[in-house]
Amino acid sequence: MKIQPDILASALLVASSQLAWAQASCSPTPTYTFTPEQLRNANRTLSIGYVVYPGYAILDVFGPLQFLEGLSWPFSINLSIIAKTAGPVGSRPPPHHTPDGSIMDMSRMIDVQLIATHDFQTAPPLDILIMPGGVGDLHLVEQNDTAIEDFIASRFNTTEYVLSVCSGAGFLARAGVLEGRRATGTKAVWDFVTQFGTNITWVPSARWVEDGKVWTSSGVTAGMDMMVAFVRHLYGDPRVNNFVNNLEYLAHVDPRWDPFSVLHKVPGANMSIPLTSTVSPLQPYPEEA
Ligand SMILES: *[C@@H]1O[C@H](CO)[C@@H](O)[C@H](O)[C@H]1NC(C)=O
Ligand SMILES: *[C@@H]1O[C@H](CO)[C@@H](O)[C@H](O)[C@H]1NC(C)=O
Ligand SMILES: *[C@@H]1O[C@H](CO)[C@@H](O)[C@H](O)[C@H]1NC(C)=O
Ligand SMILES: *[C@@H]1O[C@H](CO)[C@@H](O)[C@H](O)[C@H]1NC(C)=O
Ligand SMILES: *[C@@H]1O[C@H](CO)[C@@H](O)[C@H](O)[C@H]1NC(C)=O
Ligand SMILES: *[C@@H]1O[C@H](CO)[C@@H](O)[C@H](O)[C@H]1NC(C)=O
Repeated sequence: MKIQPDILASALLVASSQLAWAQASCSPTPTYTFTPEQLRNANRTLSIGYVVYPGYAILDVFGPLQFLEGLSWPFSINLSIIAKTAGPVGSRPPPHHTPDGSIMDMSRMIDVQLIATHDFQTAPPLDILIMPGGVGDLHLVEQNDTAIEDFIASRFNTTEYVLSVCSGAGFLARAGVLEGRRATGTKAVWDFVTQFGTNITWVPSARWVEDGKVWTSSGVTAGMDMMVAFVRHLYGDPRVNNFVNNLEYLAHVDPRWDPFSVLHKVPGANMSIPLTSTVSPLQPYPEEA
């Protein structure tokens, strides 16, 4: 289906493929093709649920949310912040044991609180579930607290997409929803994340991995790159570009770009990835062109 809305009159400037550039340069009336799913998504309310827990990583939550919050102006998005108990949830990790058996007490760290709007019983139906990482997962694993994994497993079939950032992939793995799939997670604690699950193809060099309805990203800031790719997938590039540009964010658009897999010596990493990199060219939004 093709549309030619006024706002996309300069869509040649945002065309993302060589083919589109070539077409645009020969055509005085550029068009941009949205998929039927993108048209449908632009026209409905998406119910997005973020699962949080004490010791969540701040940017795993607020990085991707910055894009979703901006896009909730042109599009209808409902956000639920979901935790074991509704109310304040802090970023300060609860104590956990280190491999040598001593207690790691992080109580001197600052505690950035957010408010969970729902618990696992009251959470509304979700189209998209997002699972952040954070050091707090060590405490939950140690306590055999599977409330989050149970929630993910119970909601997986009825959500259209499930995303994780950083060690959030460990929750998905423990919930069983990565079985038979390709996935990635933070390279900083790769061994921890990839110990879970039985038949998961962990991708050692990946900024993010898309496998059907499941998108998993590498550590922390990788969640922002995944989210940029994800919202472009949801709504189409030109509907997203001005928000990315207003944030002055240079998103990595190649999911295989992962120098951190080299830096952290992840087994199986593509060692020919250089430790320096450029990011994608800017994609002007028509109004800015
Ligand atoms: C958008 O919503 C309107 C009103 O519900 C509907 O008539 C139209 O068919 C929808 N368009 C798409 C592309 O889903
Ligand atoms: C979005 O959330 C609001 C507040 O919880 C609710 O009133 C509304 O029905 C929701 N809309 C959809 C489409 O789920
Ligand atoms: C968690 O489960 C393990 C293995 O079953 C057990 O050894 C450990 O004591 C449990 N920890 C807690 C806090 O219940
Ligand atoms: C989800 O679907 C799978 C495959 O059909 C099924 O085995 C599983 O029981 C379902 N899970 C839930 C919670 O309904
Ligand atoms: C493991 O996952 C692959 C897909 O990656 C699938 O083809 C295979 O059947 C699975 N094996 C088992 C034992 O479930
Ligand atoms: C490894 O990385 C290099 C440099 O980015 C790239 O050219 C090559 O295709 C990658 N190899 C694989 C198997 O992905």
